[in-house]
Formats: sequence, structure tokens, C-alpha cells
Amino acid sequence: MLEIKVPATSANFGPGFDSLGVALDLYNKFYIEEIEEGIIIEGCDEVYKGKENLIYKSMEECFKIVNYIPKGVHIKVEAQIPLSRGLGSSASCIVAGLLAANEISGNKLNKKDILNLATKIEDHSDNITPALFGGMTVSISHKEETLFNSISVPDKICFCAIIPKFKLSTKEARAVLPKEVSYKDAVFNISRVSMLISSLYNSNLNLLKVACEDRIHESYRGTLIDNFEEVISICEELKCLGVFLSGAGPTVIALVEEGNLEFFKRLKERLIIFNSTWSIKKLRLDNFGAVIKEIK
Ligand code: HSE
Repeated sequence: MLEIKVPATSANFGPGFDSLGVALDLYNKFYIEEIEEGIIIEGCDEVYKGKENLIYKSMEECFKIVNYIPKGVHIKVEAQIPLSRGLGSSASCIVAGLLAANEISGNKLNKKDILNLATKIEDHSDNITPALFGGMTVSISHKEETLFNSISVPDKICFCAIIPKFKLSTKEARAVLPKEVSYKDAVFNISRVSMLISSLYNSNLNLLKVACEDRIHESYRGTLIDNFEEVISICEELKCLGVFLSGAGPTVIALVEEGNLEFFKRLKERLIIFNSTWSIKKLRLDNFGAVIKEIK
């Protein structure tokens, strides 16, 4: 039996749409083995227990490439990452399925092959890359390949995930994006991505607030998220270091200085007006990414 532990991720970090992402210390665990026959999927809703299951479909993609025909597959999920909240739950399923299938079929693919394959399945690499490699990453597509690099994040930064009870599908959140962006907005984002990476590089935390601003996806998606503007404003009033929409949303991530417990306490109090719709999780960077091991 294989155990695959995959971290949650926050993609689109600030202005880094479809390219910047971080791995966070909230995990999905997957237990996967080849069995004599059939498909058994446990630990998820009934609707995800068939061949359309994303973990299973990702396994099939790998098996197809390496020419392996499994007899049967048993998958058990122990999920901590909430579904359809912009915290990389789908990426965790894809990564786990590919890593497990590769291991079962004799390890013919390396991690880079897995990254390329996972990106094809998910369609963008900003959740997949940190889920596989950990830390904060920038990833781009180049000639059919996904190239990536790590970005250092100062130890004194922690992440406050503000997670609503409602879901938002990535498909719906991509559908509201405009087909084109203006030159002005493109420059706005490019300059802030550069500022963001340089501020993280030399721990200039004062610049993070402006460096996390975005003009190419948040305002469009904000219209699909009840109280999005209010939650962002509260985080700013409470002097977070920076705040942005996590992935396609609806979760909001605030960057907070480690040790600033006052922020969490006061945020919790301020969110009461939304009738417990939003809950808070204090998270830290995960530096390892997905880990696969054989267990008894
Ligand atoms: N970059 C992706 C998006 C992340 O914003 O649509 C969600 O999968």
C-alpha cells in the first residue's frame, strides 16, 4: 500500500496569475494500491467513487503513457483540504494519482515528467508545481514543457487562510475572466510580480501590501464571492502584510507576520458579522511538497 501526502496550495499568489503558487501545511493523504480486480474508492462523496474520479483518471493517464494495465485499483482518501475553495484540492488528487500510478508501474517517469503530465491534466501549473515540490514556486509553460523555479519566503511570514462555507468551481471562476486585458493592467501586474519577488527576496515586508495587488482576475472573480471586498478590507484594516484571492477563490489569503496573534484574534471577531460563513486557518509554508512512501 502506498501513502501519498500532498500539501494544500495557494495559486495566483497576488499578481502572479497562473504562475506563482505556495505549498501550505494542510494536507490530503491518499492510500493507493493495485488490487486483483475492480475499482474501490473510499473516503469521498458517492459521486466521486467511479471512473470519473480525478485521482483515478490521473492514474489512467500515467498508466497509458507507460503502457501498464493494472488489474484493479483501491484508493482511500483522508482529506483535510476543503473542496473547491481555491486551496489546491484538485491538484492534490492529480499529483497523488500520478505519483501512485508511476510507483505501481515501475517508476518509469521522473518528477519532471510528472509535473508536465499533471500540468496537462490541470491546465495550469501554479497549484501543481508547489504541490509536487513544496515551497513557493514560479512556473511557466515553454515549448510543451513546464519550467519552474523556487522563490524564498522569509520565515517570519505566515498565512491566514480565510475560508468560506460556500464553494466556487475553477471552471466558473475562469469563465468570468475577460478574453483580453489592457496594456495598463498588464503592466500593473508585471510590475507588482517583480516587486513581490524582490520584496520576498530581501524580506522587505513593507512593500508586500502593494506588491500583492492584482488587476487581471480578482475583481472579476470577486463578483462571484459574497462579501469578498469586505473581507479584503477587514484584513487591510487589521494591517496584514498583504492580501489576495487564493487560486480561483473563494478563499482569501492574508500574509501575516509570525507571532502577530492579535491579527487572528481580531479578524475572528470582525468576521462574526458574516454569520460564521468565513472561518480562519493559520498556515505555514510547506517546504517538502508531495511525499510518497510504502506502508504495511
Ligand atoms: N491559476 C488558476 C486560476 C488557479 O486562477 O484559474 C486555479 O486552479
